[in-house]
Amino acid sequence: MHGSLARQPAVEAFPAEELLRWYDREKRDLPWRHTRDPYRILVSEVMLQQTQVKTVLEYYEPFLERFPTLEALAAADQEEVLAAWKGLGYYQRARRLHALAQAVVSDLGGVLPRSFSELRRLKGIGDYTAAAVASIAFGEAKGVVDGNVLRVMARFLGIKEPIDDARVKREIQAAVDRAISRQRPGDFNQALMELGATVCTPQRPGCGACPLQAACWAHAHGHSTRLPVRKPRGKVERSRRAVGVVERDGKILLLKRPPEGLLAGMWEFLNLETDPDVAGEALLAKAQELSGTDELTLVYAGRVIHRFSHIEWEIDAYYLGAWSGGVEERAPEQPASEWVSRDELAERPLPRVMQKVWEQVERRLQEITP
Ligand code: ADE
Ligand code: SF4
Repeated sequence: MHGSLARQPAVEAFPAEELLRWYDREKRDLPWRHTRDPYRILVSEVMLQQTQVKTVLEYYEPFLERFPTLEALAAADQEEVLAAWKGLGYYQRARRLHALAQAVVSDLGGVLPRSFSELRRLKGIGDYTAAAVASIAFGEAKGVVDGNVLRVMARFLGIKEPIDDARVKREIQAAVDRAISRQRPGDFNQALMELGATVCTPQRPGCGACPLQAACWAHAHGHSTRLPVRKPRGKVERSRRAVGVVERDGKILLLKRPPEGLLAGMWEFLNLETDPDVAGEALLAKAQELSGTDELTLVYAGRVIHRFSHIEWEIDAYYLGAWSGGVEERAPEQPASEWVSRDELAERPLPRVMQKVWEQVERRLQEITP
């Protein structure tokens, strides 16, 4: 053997027919595979982008029952949409989908465009969603590139550069655009994603059952588990926080985050950036001010760590409770705060990090109540 490790095999050798035969045999029976309604396909793909199929299955039909059409979604309140999204997480997706529905209704008469390039121009639709809707709903031969597809193609083509590099992503997009079946582009895309999710998995690729095996570079070179590679992770910024679940007379304090930045516009418990040494005192002072009582009992509930993409919150979680029998006046409401019952809280779309804090506090309260 000699010479450069040019990409062998080239994308021309991609066995699209074999992949489709495998898909026809093995594909999972999923509700969005029984429709050609572009709206329903759009909803499924937005949900599937950062959430596993298993979870999406629980929320997909109820969401569509509540918002059966693009018009119905456009007409809904944002809070309602977020509530129906509860459990799927990454609420920014729900906000973008909602804004998209409103824009399509007001500017395009409620009709989604049919081509990748027109879909891509809409605010709130990226390459992935535009390609998924164009191919699955409208039969355009445009490749869908998600994390699964990046992995499968890096292995198949023997790409040793990091798949989170923009240039490498473009290269893989171009390769899928060439490999895609012109007859069945929507099925091809779904097949490739499904192969990545079920066979060509990150840790233990099942090359023995893979329809791409005969032409796969990684398999031929025994490198299946070494590919793909990623860029070394950038430095993560740490933020020390104190988060308090403040309860007064059976109601829990929620505060709304600012409309811009991390967790924009989401509800949260009292959340301070603070030195851990003074976390309890700082929370107590603020909670007294907001609840209008100095009878609060402070309970330390434990540590919660939550990682966002470039920042990590190291949280000391507390419970601060008071029961005044409703005699005292509560301090005037802050503009962006609300007191909600536990039942109402369960219905609220809370960011994942706040759910973790709530679970920690509940666990601790259970430990200390006889
Ligand atoms: N992942 C995201 N969308 C998918 C689809 N339509 N089929 C299989 N996996 C997916
Ligand atoms: Fe992935 Fe193995 Fe299939 Fe290659 S042969 S695509 S490494 S499962």
